[in-house]
Amino acid sequence: MKPAPFLFLGIFCALSFSFVGLVLTNQLTYGAFTTHVDEDEGKAFPQPLPGLAAQGKLVYQDLGCVACHTQQVRREGFGADFGERGRGWGERQSVARDYLRDERVLLGSQRVGPDLRNFAARKNADGTEHNAEWLFKYLYAPTSVVRESNMPRYAFLFKTQPIIGQGSSKALKLSGALAPAAGYEVVPTSRGEALVAYLLSLKDTYAYPETKNIYTAPAPKAGAKQEGHK
Ligand code: HEC
Repeated sequence: MKPAPFLFLGIFCALSFSFVGLVLTNQLTYGAFTTHVDEDEGKAFPQPLPGLAAQGKLVYQDLGCVACHTQQVRREGFGADFGERGRGWGERQSVARDYLRDERVLLGSQRVGPDLRNFAARKNADGTEHNAEWLFKYLYAPTSVVRESNMPRYAFLFKTQPIIGQGSSKALKLSGALAPAAGYEVVPTSRGEALVAYLLSLKDTYAYPETKNIYTAPAPKAGAKQEGHK
C-alpha cells in the first residue's frame, strides 16, 4: 500500500475541514450582516464614528489602552457586566452588529480597568455626566478626579504653554501641586483631543432586533436550585 495518496487525502481533509469550520461557517453567519436601517430615525445603525473620534481610535490603539480595557459587555450569566446587580457597564450585552463598522475590533481580553464599550453612556459615581472636561482631567492626572485611581497618567497627551491673552478655552482647571506655574496653562494636544472624542463616542445603546428579549438569563424560579446559564 502506497502511503502517498493517504497522506495527501489526510492533508486535504484537514485543510478543508478547517476552511469550512473557520472561514465558511463564519462567512455564512456574519458575511451578509448589514447595518440596521431605522425608518423612524432615518439612520443606519451602527453609525460611523465622527472624524475626530475615528482618529482617536488610532490613538487608543497606539497607546495600548486595549491591554487593560475590554470593549465587550458580556451577556447575563457570563459575568455581572450589567443587570440588576451588575457593574453597570451597559444596558444590554454586546452583539456582533455593534462592531460592524469597526475595521479593527478592540475587544480586549483583560479587565484591569472597567469595560469601556459604553463609557459615554454611563455616568460618574456622583451622577455627573462623563464629559470632555472630566476626561481631560482624568487622563492628565487620574487621581485628581478619582482619589485612589490606579489608571496610568497620560500627561504626555497635554502640553504646558504660556497664557496668551484670555488663554485657551480648553485649558485644564488644575489646582494644588498639579497647577502649572503662573502665566502658564495646560491644554490637550491634538492626540489628546482625538482620544477624548473617541471615548465620548463609545455607546452601544441602540436596540437592534437581535438584542431584544434574547440572551437575558431567565429569572430563577422561587425555591428552585440555581443552574449554570447555558
Ligand atoms: C495598566 C492598565 C491600564 C492602562 C494601560 C489604561 N488604563 Fe484606563 N483604567 C485602568 C484602571 C485600573 C482604571 C480604573 C481606575 C479608576 O477607577 O480610576 C481605569 C479607568 C479608565 C477610565 C474611567 C472608566 C470609568 O468608567 O470611570 C477611562 C476612561 C480609561 N481608563 C481610559 C483609558 C485610556 C483611554 C487608556 C489608553 C490611553 C487607558 N485607559 C489605559 C487601567 C488602565
